[in-house]
Amino acid sequence: MNRPIEFHHPVMCNEVVDLLGNVPGDFVIDATLGDGGHAEALLEYNSNIVLLGIDRDASAIERSYKRLSHFGDRVKFVEGRFANIAEIAMESGFGVPAGVLFDLGVSSPQIDEPERGFSFSASAPLDMRMGEAKISARGFIESVEFGELARVLREFGEVSHPGRVARAIIEMRDKTGVETTEELAKAVKNAIPNCRNADLARVFQAIRIFINDELTELRRGLSAALDELIPDGVIVVISYHSLEDRIVKRFFAGEEKGCICPPELPVCRCGHLPRIRRPFRKPMRPSEEEIRENNRARSAKLRAAVKI
Ligand SMILES: C[S@@+](CC[C@H](N)C(=O)[O-])C[C@H]1O[C@@H](n2cnc3c(N)ncnc32)[C@H](O)[C@@H]1O
Repeated sequence: MNRPIEFHHPVMCNEVVDLLGNVPGDFVIDATLGDGGHAEALLEYNSNIVLLGIDRDASAIERSYKRLSHFGDRVKFVEGRFANIAEIAMESGFGVPAGVLFDLGVSSPQIDEPERGFSFSASAPLDMRMGEAKISARGFIESVEFGELARVLREFGEVSHPGRVARAIIEMRDKTGVETTEELAKAVKNAIPNCRNADLARVFQAIRIFINDELTELRRGLSAALDELIPDGVIVVISYHSLEDRIVKRFFAGEEKGCICPPELPVCRCGHLPRIRRPFRKPMRPSEEEIRENNRARSAKLRAAVKI
């Protein structure tokens, strides 16, 4: 089992500071404040920056407050979802943002606190809620039908045998109940011979993404952040799995395009204009040294866009 660390290690922090530390305005939003590692680096790097930190998880707000409160009124903390970034930014009174950071997923303390139920490495009640998500993982498994569970596992975890795994979970639920992370892991192991940690991780990821509606949040958050930014403002997104990265890549590619009419139309009817440019196309990856020091960085992909 991983030993809990004091604070989450911010991933690709130098790259984030390079991209957001000198944006053409003072107001930066950290839409996924977590333990405030990226926020701290930005506030230290550029003493003109004022930062609005948003997190849907109350414990993240508490932890980052401890780390960042010495910056005084240069930082504001809001417990909320980044899909509501426009309203939250307006209420902050900081004006119009010049940079927005999304560092997606869960933080190390969230994973390491067994009682949150995010991890299969420790037995705990199946919860997995971030903030005010409507239903816990346990509640979801208690009421879900086979077809829906198989869909969630396939769509949100790209689980290789979703039907088999869904059947094993439902069988265990109906016989003895699935109330803990350990029981969920056992059901998955029953379904997948030679089950690896990566297989378990995909099942846990699928259920977490579904109950927290993470992909809808991401689509809404990206779109609202782009609407909010000043011209030449920058969005930076760090994602940790292909579902998130695909959404970010498609969103940026779509917003970078001019005309989106079907090719057979001789004259443009859509009037769509490019809204961003991408400073680099291929996602940045953490250095090998960073991955050696922080294993949780290994799957990170960083993409950025500059508003036109
Ligand atoms: C990887 S951590 C961020 C770590 C942070 N960059 C740091 O340096 O400590 C991701 C954070 O995003 C938060 N989060 C996830 N989805 C969110 C959403 N839709 N709105 C706001 N916060 C969200 C999680 O609660 C978690 O604290």
